[in-house]
Amino acid sequence: MIMGTVLFNATPVAGANRVWTRRFAGRPRGFRPSGSGHDMKLLEICDLQIGFRRDGAPPVPVVDGVSLTLEPGETLGLVGESGCGKSLTALAIARLLPSPPAQVLGGDIRLEGRSVLQMSGAELRRVRGRVVSYVFQEAGASLNPVMRVGAQLRECLRLHRPEAATDAEVLRLLRLVGIPAPETRARSYPHELSGGMQQRVMIALAIAPRPKLLVADEPTTALDVTIQAQIIELLRDLRRELGMSILLITHNLGLVGDLADRVAVMYAGQIVEAAPARELLKHPVHPYTRALLNSVPALGVRQERLPAIPGTVPPPGAWPGGCRFHPRCPRRQADCEATPPGLTELPGGRRARCLYAREILEEKAR
Ligand SMILES: Nc1ncnc2c1ncn2[C@@H]1O[C@H](COP(=O)(O)OP(=O)(O)O)[C@@H](O)[C@H]1O
Ligand code: SF4
Ligand SMILES: [Mg+2]
Repeated sequence: MIMGTVLFNATPVAGANRVWTRRFAGRPRGFRPSGSGHDMKLLEICDLQIGFRRDGAPPVPVVDGVSLTLEPGETLGLVGESGCGKSLTALAIARLLPSPPAQVLGGDIRLEGRSVLQMSGAELRRVRGRVVSYVFQEAGASLNPVMRVGAQLRECLRLHRPEAATDAEVLRLLRLVGIPAPETRARSYPHELSGGMQQRVMIALAIAPRPKLLVADEPTTALDVTIQAQIIELLRDLRRELGMSILLITHNLGLVGDLADRVAVMYAGQIVEAAPARELLKHPVHPYTRALLNSVPALGVRQERLPAIPGTVPPPGAWPGGCRFHPRCPRRQADCEATPPGLTELPGGRRARCLYAREILEEKAR
């Protein structure tokens, strides 16, 4: 089965509506729906809570109060080490969480002003592909190994844009994602293509339905550095050409600078810093963002060993009290172990979840 079929016709998450109605029928904290006019956001995630539920035990939170917005045409980078909750947040947008065990426990997700959690199966099928579409890390594993590339694209078009399910459109899409000799490549099987070419095919499948939002979840992680840069460049070109929004998810803060307008950093299920990309990369406020940035290799600079962040991301169910980053934080103070920091609003549209956010920002201004 091809990726398009898997993703865009996946069974709606069992029980999501039920949970919504039973526990969260009221407005989530701080929720302000977008208007129906020109100010409408493409995506609004508000106070999203996701948990894992097993054997009737109380759910273990894995995503804890995440709020994000995305304007039409905007690119948001969602960054953090592996295990922070980035992919689960992204999958929840089209109600594609692995359920069971994952379940939306609270909050809301709106696409073009409509709550995804309250959509009918028919509405969800329309939204998957046409409004939001996904590219994942392992293109090789996601493509159908026994179906030629062109046939997979045609099948995807037949599902989402039947009027465009033609050879000409298949070749146009392959050309658009930079595949040389598309007539020949359309007849190839995935294993006959390189990793970079397979990822280009995955991107062609994802953009074939003309989505308004492309979620690219670690789209370059399996590729070597040169091909990574080419794929990011391709995404930038496609965004310009197609006017779509992109949610770029990566553990590598170094990748987002070329593409993202804004960046949100996640740690242990929470957003810990959010800011315009340029500001965040130039002057990170949160000690975690700083540590992530320090572990990005500088271009053209030979570094034998990159400073790794000491320790590991605590798994769900083992988040420490106080600030969740405190066991790894080089700046921690006595109160960090006891007081959980909220997201402090800072000048310039920035937010940071650190008890010392204002101090750090002022230090930089000096
Ligand atoms: N299907 C699953 N079953 C059990 N645990 C999961 C599953 N998917 C994710 N997790 C756990 O939830 C946490 C967040 O996962 P994920 O959103 O994939 O993180 P990220 O994308 O930031 O690496 C991780 O600790 C991960 O191990
Ligand atoms: S609150 Fe304390 S431990 Fe947490 S990031 Fe800020 S300084 Fe570090
Ligand atoms: Mg992930």
